Amino acid sequence: MCAMGDTANLTDITGEWVFGPENKRNPHPVYHRIRAAAPIWKFDDFDDYLLTRWEDCQEVLRDPRWSSDPSHAPMPEDDFRAAFEGAGVRTLLFMDPPDHTRVRRLVSKAFTPRTVEKLRDHVGEICDSLLADLKGDEPFEVMSGLAYPLPVIVICELLGVPVEDRHQMEGWSSDASRLLDFSMIDEETAMKGMVAAMQFINYFNGLFEARRSEPQDDLLTELIKAEEEGDKLSEEELRSIVLLLFVAGHETTMNLIGNGVYLLLTNREYVMPMFTEPLGWLMLGGAAFWLGVGVFWMSRLVKVEV
Ligand code: HEM
Repeated sequence: MCAMGDTANLTDITGEWVFGPENKRNPHPVYHRIRAAAPIWKFDDFDDYLLTRWEDCQEVLRDPRWSSDPSHAPMPEDDFRAAFEGAGVRTLLFMDPPDHTRVRRLVSKAFTPRTVEKLRDHVGEICDSLLADLKGDEPFEVMSGLAYPLPVIVICELLGVPVEDRHQMEGWSSDASRLLDFSMIDEETAMKGMVAAMQFINYFNGLFEARRSEPQDDLLTELIKAEEEGDKLSEEELRSIVLLLFVAGHETTMNLIGNGVYLLLTNREYVMPMFTEPLGWLMLGGAAFWLGVGVFWMSRLVKVEV
């Protein structure tokens, strides 16, 4: 792959800055600039290309020559992150077929559209109870009062985590979710994330035992039971999928709610009319999704020369 376009006026933009915290606050102007000048662009300071066009991204994401598996780019031994590799957590996010296909098929047996649909009304009730303290013009902390606890409560209920254990999950989930930025974090953050992931895993090992001896009507029991043609999820796969459900489902939804509310409050003139349009809610959801989920890039590694 080679860089495409006029990179001369992009010399002030480094990879470190693009993937760093400052740009994360609002990455769209920079993406727009890069797309206009060089839609396929190679960073000077990183050995990475940035693709900014929908078609190019689609092509790479669908092409099996590109991989989600970080083992295709092993860390140098003197990089602190090398110490965390092979820590016994291998999530769907970092797998390629055929492993991905196999695990995904087993998980889909337990995590069905029906499982999610069953939650619909109850999610509304949880929202109502979290918003019960919202009064008139009094300030309300959206992040700690709604965006942060809502996904954790829903995922806990879905999996069958006892109510009294939920508060532990919140801290573990947000610390462990920093590991999703693995290539960009410092040693202290990585260590904190790994400790949280291990505490999480220890906790769930206990819960797996409990569900094996006494099955319940929850996703954890379904994941343990999930079987196809004699194939089951291994212990490592079970742990990894539960960790992923928390980390992927928590951080993303929290950002969507927080940034969605911000969008609503800062763009009233565009947003308010949407409430009265027939498809307004859908448009609002779409706008909040694209502007506010906090997933600003997806990475793939090349397995063979392309
Ligand atoms: C606004 C909400 C969400 C956004 C923006 C989002 C975004 C993403 C993205 C971009 C990926 C693909 C990553 C890649 O292939 O490199 C992904 C995968 C995944 N997400 Fe989400 N997600 C959201 C909510 C959730 C929720 C609520 C859950 C579960 C409770 C979840 C579970 C997963 C899982 C299990 C995968 C891996 C799927 C696979 O590889 O087959 N996500 N998500």
